Amino acid sequence: MRIAIASDHAGFEEKQLLVGYLKELGHEVADLGPANDDRVDYPDFAKLVAHDVADGKVDRGVLVCGTGIGMAVAANKVHGIRAANVTSPEFAALAREHNDANIVTVSGRFVDDATNRAIVKTFLETEFAGGRHTGRVEKIMALEQ
Ligand code: RB5
Repeated sequence: MRIAIASDHAGFEEKQLLVGYLKELGHEVADLGPANDDRVDYPDFAKLVAHDVADGKVDRGVLVCGTGIGMAVAANKVHGIRAANVTSPEFAALAREHNDANIVTVSGRFVDDATNRAIVKTFLETEFAGGRHTGRVEKIMALEQ
């Protein structure tokens, strides 16, 4: 799968770990930065990943900040994006099954690396369940109009 990933300074270290992990899993990874942990503004990096996902340049996105919250709020401003801030593998599965989320945002400060790995792996391996969830997701996307 083609994955775009980015972070801010608070998520930089975890982003580096996840880049290596995603490559180990065999994914094609576009690391959209930053290149170091100098202070940056998370919307600038949410925007890069969100546009790549919305434009179909990649299949899914991963964003890391201190909490994951700011990245999700910012990414969801881009049309076509359903970003979910996730703190457990169970929620990662539900974000895919029920919400057809196309970006997962995780916390570099409050969630450990092993949990974030499990979150990202589950997020990438879980399919949208469709059925009764399809109309609900269509109604979410209609809110963009
Ligand atoms: C940066 O201090 C922090 O605000 C950011 O990483 C993120 O947690 C915002 O939601």
